[in-house]
Amino acid sequence: MIKKLFILFKIGRKLAKSDALNILSKFHKPQTLVKVFFQILSVSFSKKNETDFNVSEEERLSNSLQSMGTTFIKLGQFLATRPDIIGEGLSSQLETLQDKLPPFSLSEAKTIIKKDLGEETFNSLLNLSEPVAAASIAQVHKAQINDNGTIKDVAIKILRPNIKKKFNEEIDSLMLLAFIVESLVKKSKRLKLIEVVFLLKEITNLEMDLRFDAAAANEYSENTKNDVGFHVPQIYWNFTSENVLTLDWIEGVSIRETEILQSKNIDTDKVASDLIQHFLRHAVRDGFFHADMHQGNIFVNNIGQIVPIDFRIMGRLDKLSKRFLAEILFGFIQRDYKKVAEVHLAAGLVPNNVPVDDLAQALRSIGEPIFGQSVKNISGGKLLKQLFDVTDKFNMQTQPQLLMLQKTMVVVEGVARKLNPNTNIWETSRPVLENWLKETKDPINSINDTLKSSSEIIKRLPEFPEVMDKANQALTYMASGQIPQNSNSYFALNEKKSEMIAFRNQTFIGLLLLVIFVLLVF
Ligand SMILES: Nc1ncnc2c1ncn2[C@@H]1O[C@H](COP(=O)(O)OP(=O)(O)O)[C@@H](O)[C@H]1O
Ligand SMILES: [Mg+2]
Repeated sequence: MIKKLFILFKIGRKLAKSDALNILSKFHKPQTLVKVFFQILSVSFSKKNETDFNVSEEERLSNSLQSMGTTFIKLGQFLATRPDIIGEGLSSQLETLQDKLPPFSLSEAKTIIKKDLGEETFNSLLNLSEPVAAASIAQVHKAQINDNGTIKDVAIKILRPNIKKKFNEEIDSLMLLAFIVESLVKKSKRLKLIEVVFLLKEITNLEMDLRFDAAAANEYSENTKNDVGFHVPQIYWNFTSENVLTLDWIEGVSIRETEILQSKNIDTDKVASDLIQHFLRHAVRDGFFHADMHQGNIFVNNIGQIVPIDFRIMGRLDKLSKRFLAEILFGFIQRDYKKVAEVHLAAGLVPNNVPVDDLAQALRSIGEPIFGQSVKNISGGKLLKQLFDVTDKFNMQTQPQLLMLQKTMVVVEGVARKLNPNTNIWETSRPVLENWLKETKDPINSINDTLKSSSEIIKRLPEFPEVMDKANQALTYMASGQIPQNSNSYFALNEKKSEMIAFRNQTFIGLLLLVIFVLLVF
């Protein structure tokens, strides 16, 4: 506990030195007690005249979180996805938070590789470069390996040294801080701060095992090996461990660079519609999709293939969700609202007593205005969002996986529109959905029945069942934004809470606060 307090002290110092609280207090009118707290802290702000007011608030917030290191960057990124907790205004400010930190040195990188992969494997690496990209959790180097006699260019992603330990220490202290705030400010209970911090801890800990990325890449590659124009880089397992991930180096251009792509005679309009089609196909056909499809994670290689990287966040859809998704999107494209309503009922996603015509009418109210809009404004992702909002009113529980899909769809469409603003989402999506629906014979009713009696068996690497299980669990947390009851994490969370309550009961809380107050200010 003393150690936690010490780390809390260090966090307090970081906070006090940074600009974050200043900006945060603008968004949340603090309680009196918290106000006093902020004012004490702001004494230490005013001592520093570093604040550059030419820089936007958004940037200052990002910069200060960034300066506080990995834990706070992750916290900021996580809160950006949770407007329900911190409000739309603040969460959209956090969306631009960059995941960048100065790189660690090449010699540290070498030490990690040597320790994880062994001396011999390390010695077989050729031309290990200085870091080419550095983010909060890991950084990437370029190198060459001898793969059964062929020299191959590879990218080597390496976790930051001691990141796991440091992150867990800081996050445990933050949890203690959340607990203190919840104990003191009764109203803050509704924010579920402890749960939020705990959730972040669970998710980030999984991100910090690169075998999880590797296993995901493997499965993704297997699923898509016959998809023309799409290529998942190969993973080199002999050069992969918890802290090190080795995969093919991509000779190509980021999908961000529309002009460079065009100068290489790549048809960017086609890349735009292909990207949407591949993504949809992976979702409805394989039920396994890349859920972090921003521009930084997609390349177009020298032979014009779309190449994704960064397989940390992948989404899964079970058989029923896949079918459901294809049917509803296709139903909307055909403007057959009754069909869409029937699918909802058949899948058991809406209570039986909801009249199908009422639901159909509500769906029409979403669908029809879309058809009046110009092609440029039509978005499948936005449509799904509206759909979930409406079905929520009919007491339909939106599945976390579908939410994740919807969010990614908005991103994918955004990337495509940057390549070609006139991409027609409906025309592009239709053939993929139509073909898939034609090919699969299961009507939605029977899938539902089989799903009730037996759960889906997912393809996974036999060597890593545990990693993948945990990964899937984390993805569910991430998409739903909560820790499901009856899970191991839920019990762990409760244990943590009782630990902290015991701690509070043992300690003279006033003394504790005094210490923290004093420490925060200096
Ligand atoms: N296989 C690769 N080939 C070429 N560049 C890569 C490769 N993998 C990563 N990079 C470079 O490193 C950057 C960060 O890699 P990424 O896996 O996206 O990590 P992060 O988790 O930091 O986003 C990428 O944006 C890209 O510039
Ligand atoms: Mg990335």
